[in-house]
Amino acid sequence: MQTIGVIGAGQMGAGIAQVSAQAGYRVLLADVSREQADKGRAGIARQLDRLVAKEKIAADARDAALALIEPVDGVAAMGDCALVIEAATEREGVKRQIFADVGKVLGPDAVLASNTSSIPITRLAQAAPDAARFVGVHFFNPVPVMGLIELIRGLATSDATVAKVEEYAQALGKRVVRANDAPGFIVNRVLMPMLNEACFALGEGVATIPDIDAACQLGLNHPMGPLTLADFIGLDTCLEITRVLFEGTGDPKFRPAPLLVKYVEAGWYGRKTGRGFYDYSGAEPVPTR
Ligand code: CAA
Repeated sequence: MQTIGVIGAGQMGAGIAQVSAQAGYRVLLADVSREQADKGRAGIARQLDRLVAKEKIAADARDAALALIEPVDGVAAMGDCALVIEAATEREGVKRQIFADVGKVLGPDAVLASNTSSIPITRLAQAAPDAARFVGVHFFNPVPVMGLIELIRGLATSDATVAKVEEYAQALGKRVVRANDAPGFIVNRVLMPMLNEACFALGEGVATIPDIDAACQLGLNHPMGPLTLADFIGLDTCLEITRVLFEGTGDPKFRPAPLLVKYVEAGWYGRKTGRGFYDYSGAEPVPTR
């Protein structure tokens, strides 16, 4: 059985650990502290319990998956991992430090992958122990529900690395798409301008928050309206990715909407802070404008 290391036990890391364990991989889960890694595993246990309650999986499948997830004190324990996936916070400095730490233990054939949503893979590879064995593997939130993985190769990523990660992604039952190392890759290149445009439309008074969301949800058959989705992703993350598109291409069509910037400056990041375009403090989200 292969062992996967997952660094970051937040929403994305926990989701990646969960689906990896459900696919039969042994998973070592690390975060800034053992306590955070334990918390991540407890959250996965709750998710798996819900699947059992809904009769999506059997109780013994839950127990088997959970038994495969081992919280660890840090990356030092990941020396025998075939694949290490970094799903830490989306700050380049943080990721670079993690890669330096992973470099001290990564096995000679092991692959290091980053779940970055927008930082260029070729640039990140400069901080990785071996650029040939470094690749972007972009999951989507909620990881257990979303069927896609974007695979992004940097300039130096080897064919063998790509093949290994494709094999892993297929074992997870996800569809893999290959993207070049261009700003936003595929999904965020297309999605962020839409979310940003919804913010422009709101700021210009084109329509109210619920009407913009209803228009896109029902008129385009999207599962969520753009402002609801922006809150779900995190307005800080949306702004950060939009800035990557804007700065990475130099194209003014990607300039961030002033209202999006304002919300982020106010600390209204969406669901995670309890307020974004909607207020999440009550039983149902309430539009804030
Ligand atoms: N974890 C696990 N499962 C979850 C979940 C979570 N956080 N949230 C919802 N689900 C499951 C539910 O349990 C439910 O499963 P069953 O059908 O088996 O019962 C299913 O998803 C549907 O959930 P709900 O009925 O509660 O609600 P819904 O129908 O509104 O679906 C949703 C919720 C799946 C999140 C859906 O609204 C959706 O797909 N939204 C769009 C999500 C999206 O676009 N994600 C990508 C964001 S971009 C990104 O991640 C990358 C980036 O770089 C920014």
